[in-house]
Amino acid sequence: MISATEDEPLHVLDLPQVYESPSGTDLIKALALLTLQPRNFGASAEAVKGPAVHPTGVNRYLTQIISSPLSWLQTDELREAVWDAAAARLSERSGRTAMPAMSRVFDVPTGSVEDYTLTLHEPSLTADNLGMKTWVSSYLLSRRLHNLLDSAPKLVPSAPTDISITSNKLRALELGSGTGLVGLAFAALRGKSATIHLTDLPEIVPNLAHNAALNIELMNRTEATVTTGVLDWSEVPEPQPTAEERFDVILAADPLYSPKHPGWLAQTIGAWLSRGLDARVLTEMPLRDAYLPQVQELRDRMAQLGLGVIEEGEEVGYDDWQGADGDALAVKCWWAVWGWSEKV
Ligand SMILES: C[S@@+](CC[C@H](N)C(=O)[O-])C[C@H]1O[C@@H](n2cnc3c(N)ncnc32)[C@H](O)[C@@H]1O
Repeated sequence: MISATEDEPLHVLDLPQVYESPSGTDLIKALALLTLQPRNFGASAEAVKGPAVHPTGVNRYLTQIISSPLSWLQTDELREAVWDAAAARLSERSGRTAMPAMSRVFDVPTGSVEDYTLTLHEPSLTADNLGMKTWVSSYLLSRRLHNLLDSAPKLVPSAPTDISITSNKLRALELGSGTGLVGLAFAALRGKSATIHLTDLPEIVPNLAHNAALNIELMNRTEATVTTGVLDWSEVPEPQPTAEERFDVILAADPLYSPKHPGWLAQTIGAWLSRGLDARVLTEMPLRDAYLPQVQELRDRMAQLGLGVIEEGEEVGYDDWQGADGDALAVKCWWAVWGWSEKV
């Protein structure tokens, strides 16, 4: 029988070897031990249990199984099951982009006893579809949302004469929603006091809409109003949104990864953010070295619009994918609450 103790992972040579003609069941059990799990974004490296099998030699082990005819196994179905499992384990080790589709569960703190739980579908990734995966800064922002709502001004009309507010409901917009974690968390937390429109590029929106539908029970229970649609930051809205069409709150997580993004994002925020006293932008993004100039450019461009940071902070999250060596990647992220400078 193969088993790993808490402290001591197995070595790949402890697993059934192809030259021993092991049973299909033993091979499938061994391959299950090699599964790499997406880590919880919040878990520190120390808190994550290491792999059941030491990584040395695992890729070679998997390749041997995939290239073996498995001729001693009795049925084609069994052979297929073993090859499929070995191929899945190999693709897990090729990074998140090679992973098959998956559903993941996220807990959103509410500030009271019960957390909310969101289930998000993440399709198989392709290199240019970053919105198909949930990123660490959206996880961190979703966990901070209930506090941010408490500490910011009420985010409701400050005066009946404020022409940008047409109803009692707060109007929120999320830019680059991806799988929708931040927007859906906001929707559930604000319940019937807000509406939120989750947006992204055309190829991302179908999965975003799917995720909104996937969480319909929570949305109904909290009386949330969520819509989804395309909003491409590179396009200047024509005609410009009217005061009634603008939003009281704009949210964006991890929106900067191309030199064009700071300009596009600022332009989009400038077009869609209400001019009301309590209008706010909530952002969180990783401080990756390569993108620091873009973070600075966003600050500059927001300042040109008249938007300044009211509250900000840095926090560390952990990348969601456990590497073959079991190490967690710490990611420093920056969160900020923005408002119109002259009104701050
Ligand atoms: C790194 S992902 C972050 C997704 C999600 N906010 C999260 O943190 O999990 C960046 C998102 O921005 C979207 N995006 C990139 N360029 C965009 C554009 N020009 N207009 C609208 N969305 C865009 C991508 O499709 C993707 O969903």
